[in-house]
Amino acid sequence: MAKRIFSGAQPTGNLHIGNYLGALRNWVALQHEYESFFCVVDLHAITIPQDPEVLREKTREVARLYLAAGIDPAVSTIFIQSDVQEHAELAWVLNCVVRIGELERMTQYKDKSKKQRENVSAGLLTYPALMAADILLYQTDLVPVGQDQKQHLELTRDVAERFNRDFGETFRIPDAYIPKVGARIQALDDPLKKMSKSDENANGRIGLLDDADTIRRKFKRAVTDSGTDVRFDETRPAVTNLLTVYQLLTNQTREEIEAHFAGKGYAQLKGDLADATIAFLEPYQERVRGISDEELGRILRDGADKARAIAEVTMRQVKERMGIVGA
Ligand code: TYM
Repeated sequence: MAKRIFSGAQPTGNLHIGNYLGALRNWVALQHEYESFFCVVDLHAITIPQDPEVLREKTREVARLYLAAGIDPAVSTIFIQSDVQEHAELAWVLNCVVRIGELERMTQYKDKSKKQRENVSAGLLTYPALMAADILLYQTDLVPVGQDQKQHLELTRDVAERFNRDFGETFRIPDAYIPKVGARIQALDDPLKKMSKSDENANGRIGLLDDADTIRRKFKRAVTDSGTDVRFDETRPAVTNLLTVYQLLTNQTREEIEAHFAGKGYAQLKGDLADATIAFLEPYQERVRGISDEELGRILRDGADKARAIAEVTMRQVKERMGIVGA
């Protein structure tokens, strides 16, 4: 059987270049080697309050962004999580396998619940059980994600191993695929924070749908470090972050980049980085606009059908093993 990939993104806020460089870009590269499933995880989005109209819109927008990035529906399966009800069903089962202590240790839960303070939904806590369900339903081998999802992947493996031990071999144990470069793109306004869809300050991120003026303005405002020379240096996280984005967008080596910027200052780096980003995003946005509603609808329906056929098989096994047999 061909090895499988599963990954997804939440349709909350606007996808940014961190999402692209840390995840989507690698999905595109890996889709020809693996049987691939790329999901828009709308059920994850509702763990925090969402406006229903906006959520509906964003869910389709994220699917468009997958396609425009180069996910080919002829070789990969693109679908919306809530179209395949087995995700919610298996999540419930895994909620009964995962421990509360394990969920409470998740750093993303700790961060997000701190931000919300009051009215933290139970879904925010059990979010990783739904993510584990996404992955395990497809007997996934590899999960290409950014650094921030590593802990959720480890929990997925633990839950799968526990289930297999208690109920018999059922799930394949997935590995994370985290890129060496780009796994954690930092915020432009604070190089110690990751670039995030949900941060209040939109100046910290370059949205995949930002226009050229906005991109130039955001890079111009980006925080830099003390010093003036433009080179990769762990002790200067702001400049290194900008250079990493430049490296990934231009596909040059670090040596080539440092040679290019030798004797030039931060203003030149920001200007060149804005040019490279715009050169990448303009045609990308053109492709987003070129996808008709009909075409998108057809791709998502086909995707859901293909995904469901596999998810059903796994879910049936899970129920059998657990003694959930129905009438
Ligand atoms: P989400 O929607 O926050 O992010 C989507 C993908 O983008 C990566 N990413 C980043 N990479 C580099 N730098 C950044 N600043 C950055 N910010 C985000 C994320 O690591 C992710 O790969 N829980 C997941 C969605 C999910 C999922 C799944 C992923 C649900 N079920 C199953 C894989 C498999 C999330 O919230 O990603």
